[in-house]
Amino acid sequence: QGQYTVTLIEGDGIGVEISQAVKDIYSAAKIPITWEPVDVTPTLINGRTTLPQEAVDSVNKNKVALKGPLATPVGKGHQSMNLTLRRTFNLFANVRPCKSIVGYATPYEDVDTVLIRENTEGEYSGIEHTIVPGVVQSIKLITRPASERVIRYAFEHAKNINRPHVVVVHKASIQKLSDGLFVEVANEVAKEYPGIKVSFELLDNTCLKLTADPADYKDVVMVMPNLYGDILSDLSSGLIGGLGLTPSGNMGDTVSIFEAVHGSAPDIAGKGLANPTALLLSSCMMLRHMHLNADADKIENAVLKTIASGAENRTGDLHGSASTSHFASEVIKNL
Ligand code: IPM
Ligand code: MN
Repeated sequence: QGQYTVTLIEGDGIGVEISQAVKDIYSAAKIPITWEPVDVTPTLINGRTTLPQEAVDSVNKNKVALKGPLATPVGKGHQSMNLTLRRTFNLFANVRPCKSIVGYATPYEDVDTVLIRENTEGEYSGIEHTIVPGVVQSIKLITRPASERVIRYAFEHAKNINRPHVVVVHKASIQKLSDGLFVEVANEVAKEYPGIKVSFELLDNTCLKLTADPADYKDVVMVMPNLYGDILSDLSSGLIGGLGLTPSGNMGDTVSIFEAVHGSAPDIAGKGLANPTALLLSSCMMLRHMHLNADADKIENAVLKTIASGAENRTGDLHGSASTSHFASEVIKNL
């Protein structure tokens, strides 16, 4: 029984297994947290997917949640619960760091990127309609307030983690009005931070540069509209070994939800094959957000040591042979 209560959304598919690993490791490590599990199975109210009130109340009370992956339902009228959560709690900044794991080699060394994704609008605004059959329109919504708060968040974050440079990723050469506004607001906000360099990059160029020489981004915090951040964060994960490794934090003014970047992986669900690292590292971001830095270091060090300790202790996504529970018990040994 811990001193702090955190809402736990275990999630779908592999969510159950990786959440179990987190719970086992946390209790072995005596992290002072009590999990409050909630069910987020949506109900359809007036044609809208709606979160169960208990889940909303729990997150509002605890202010902090850890979340496994939620499957996105197919078909009209069913919105992604991932997006519903981000919107319900106004989690406007999605922080996605990505760091090479010493002891797990990929063709890229020295990756240490920090990407901040606008998390409430852009191509994710969900405004789409058919004009006439065969012609559809999807609205990419970019607003000054949402752009301003995420850009300011990025500069504040750069200051907090001592990175001297903010790179604004956009495609204003083509999306002249929407991305143009994002760039305009970034120029304004940058003036408030004379100690931080700002530069602007076209999205396609950032893809090229990140895959050519990711170490160029070691001193950088990137900030960008929603869909670009979705894509670039998967690209970044690919540089270090895949989505099984990368954490994220959905940050709002009062509430934060920490979640793995990956999906629910129905193909391997229930088989004990999933890698809990992304959720574990997300939980470390959560602990640091709660100022439990020593606890975060303890978990993170044990996870990294386990990955580095050999293929027999790594899960299949990392070309290893370990089951989820074997990996978890090795992490516990390495605490
Ligand atoms: C992510 C995911 C989600 C997104 C999906 C599951 C809706 O890919 O968190 O990156 O597109 O944002
Ligand atoms: Mn994604």
